[in-house]
Amino acid sequence: MSKVDSNADVKRGLEGVIVAESRVCYIDGIKGRLYYRGYGIGDIAKNCSFEEAAYLLLYSKLPNRRALHSFSVELRRRRNLPQRIVEMMRTFSKSMTSMEALRTAVSALAADDPDARKVSLEDHLNNGISLIAKMPTIVAYYYRINRGEEVVKPDPELGHAANFLYMMTGRVPDKTSARGMDMDMVLHAEHGFNASSFAVRVTVSTLSDMHSAFTTGVGTLKGPLHGGAAEEVMRMLEEIGYAKNVDKYVQKILAGHGRVMGYGHRIYKTYDPRARVLKKMAEEMSKEKENMRWFEIGERLEVVMEREKGLYPNVDFYSAMVYHHLALPIDINPSLFAIARSAGWVAHAAEQYGDNKLIRPLDRYVGEIDLEFIPLNKRK
Ligand code: ACO
Repeated sequence: MSKVDSNADVKRGLEGVIVAESRVCYIDGIKGRLYYRGYGIGDIAKNCSFEEAAYLLLYSKLPNRRALHSFSVELRRRRNLPQRIVEMMRTFSKSMTSMEALRTAVSALAADDPDARKVSLEDHLNNGISLIAKMPTIVAYYYRINRGEEVVKPDPELGHAANFLYMMTGRVPDKTSARGMDMDMVLHAEHGFNASSFAVRVTVSTLSDMHSAFTTGVGTLKGPLHGGAAEEVMRMLEEIGYAKNVDKYVQKILAGHGRVMGYGHRIYKTYDPRARVLKKMAEEMSKEKENMRWFEIGERLEVVMEREKGLYPNVDFYSAMVYHHLALPIDINPSLFAIARSAGWVAHAAEQYGDNKLIRPLDRYVGEIDLEFIPLNKRK
């Protein structure tokens, strides 16, 4: 028995490792700045619809009126799901979560799509657009099927965000709700080499197809250290109950080496610029609904978490409040993240494919080697 002799440096969680050049997104984690294809997130969030931001991410330029119109028409045209997928969702166990249903349905969509196995830059964009269009339908349909309700078919008159709310509730949303959902989607659309986008790139780097990449992406986003935090935040706010309980709650969590959900970020060492926009939106919605309870908890948490850990809210924190005010159920929060991040996934998949090199890092082996082999009948 012996050990491998190596002092190779290990970067746990790939922290600080630059694995590729990219033109999709720039994040300045020290100054708290974020850019999609060079445009500041403040300008994008204020001025762009999800469709406009998605076009920018996919085609590296802001669309003119005509390009935006045809891109929106294309998304609307592809919203419908094959009946077989709808029937399949009806067979899902009631205990299946929204993200599990999304992961399964995205994968199953490949079976009904003759283009799904095709792999070229054009195919990646084509299949990606189809998946961006269908993900909201999957989430809304499964939500209603799971509650024993009839599905609400997409309305081609409505934009991406408004149509999603319509398919969830059966009611055309008011302008404020539709814009709130839209802005939230824009803010979640892209964020550099986050875990799910990196997972998408790994899948594409093997020359696998876009449906496989999306299945990987949804599976990776699902975890509570990534998109799953969106669900945990609202549950945490409910557990805290009122602002007066915040200090005690944080002490309890930190004493048990737990995590306060929606706080901290691998890249941002300051306030997440997306959280800044979402906080404003959450405050406006709280005032409008005359329910400041969750927002007051948020304000106190900010003070306590900065004091105790030097940590700030991330994108998931205030978005949970926005979803609450949009009357969306807690357990679909990570799926809302996935619906929006799909645009970033396609941008990253296309970029990876355009200059592909199989992603295959190394490990430092710290186990044993040269062990004496023991035949099966002699093992204890
Ligand atoms: N609550 C309490 N302590 C925290 C938190 C938190 N939310 N986040 C980080 N810390 C602490 C860790 O305990 C650790 O403390 P220590 O050095 O005293 O042991 C230190 O900060 C560093 O933590 P790491 O996990 O090593 O930092 P990393 O960069 O890997 O973590 C992460 C980033 C996973 C997002 C982390 O901040 C976290 O778990 N947050 C809560 C979950 C969450 O909100 N996830 C969503 C992330 S954003 C997104 O995906 C959209």
